[in-house]
Amino acid sequence: MIKPVTNSRTPLIAGNWKLHKTAVEANQLVSEMLPGLQAVTGVEKLLCPPFTALQAVSESLKGTEIALGAQNLHWETSGALTGEISAAMLAEFCQYVIIGHSERRAYFGETDETVNHKVRAALSHNLRAVMCVGETLKENEDGQAAEVISRQVRDGLTEINLAGSTDLVVAYEPVWAIGTGRAATAEGANLLIRNVIRPTLAGLFGEEIAQGIRVLYGGSVKPGNAAEYFQQSEIDGALVGGASLKADDFVGITQAAA
Ligand code: 13P
Repeated sequence: MIKPVTNSRTPLIAGNWKLHKTAVEANQLVSEMLPGLQAVTGVEKLLCPPFTALQAVSESLKGTEIALGAQNLHWETSGALTGEISAAMLAEFCQYVIIGHSERRAYFGETDETVNHKVRAALSHNLRAVMCVGETLKENEDGQAAEVISRQVRDGLTEINLAGSTDLVVAYEPVWAIGTGRAATAEGANLLIRNVIRPTLAGLFGEEIAQGIRVLYGGSVKPGNAAEYFQQSEIDGALVGGASLKADDFVGITQAAA
């Protein structure tokens, strides 16, 4: 259903705008970053504004190669679920959806089980899932990062059939690195992906598909540190929060990935 695998690990730079920007402000930001983003080749770019800005931004991105994503969805297709948004509603505008961000796990009760429902809903509606995983500071200090992350990957993706490796993107975002300015080291993130995330993906989908799935790093990525991550063999791009709200910074990060 989803587009066939082409160059499966093309770098992906995604901006998660979180709870920022009205539709008008979103289009202002898009117009500021568009020329810079379009000048960068060989990198896939993805913008994830709030739901209310999706339609406006989708109009602004028409005719460009820049992808659009949402930040959440509900797994049901319809029903008495006040305030929720379905995969089919998103698929009118979006190619991607972020699922299981640590803020949703921490503040909105999301679990590996709800993440699993959401990934299934996304894939079955032709949306590519960007599934977020990552350990908290306490889990990190207690030496539990590997265990927590392998469980998040396994349980979030249980009993899912991937048509191809580009259906799924995994974002490794250590919770202690998000919005703190305290980024994980590039080497540390690379090791975690190599030793934990990719082997867990291989256990679920087989080695060949696992090798084709893009794994991003997220957490205090800035133009000044981005290149270090992209030099790592296992890091296929970034999920960017704060710096994705500044046109020059987001363009700079995409340039570092080129
Ligand atoms: P920051 O880049 O602001 O640390 O946020 C990362 C993030 O949560 C992206 O999803």
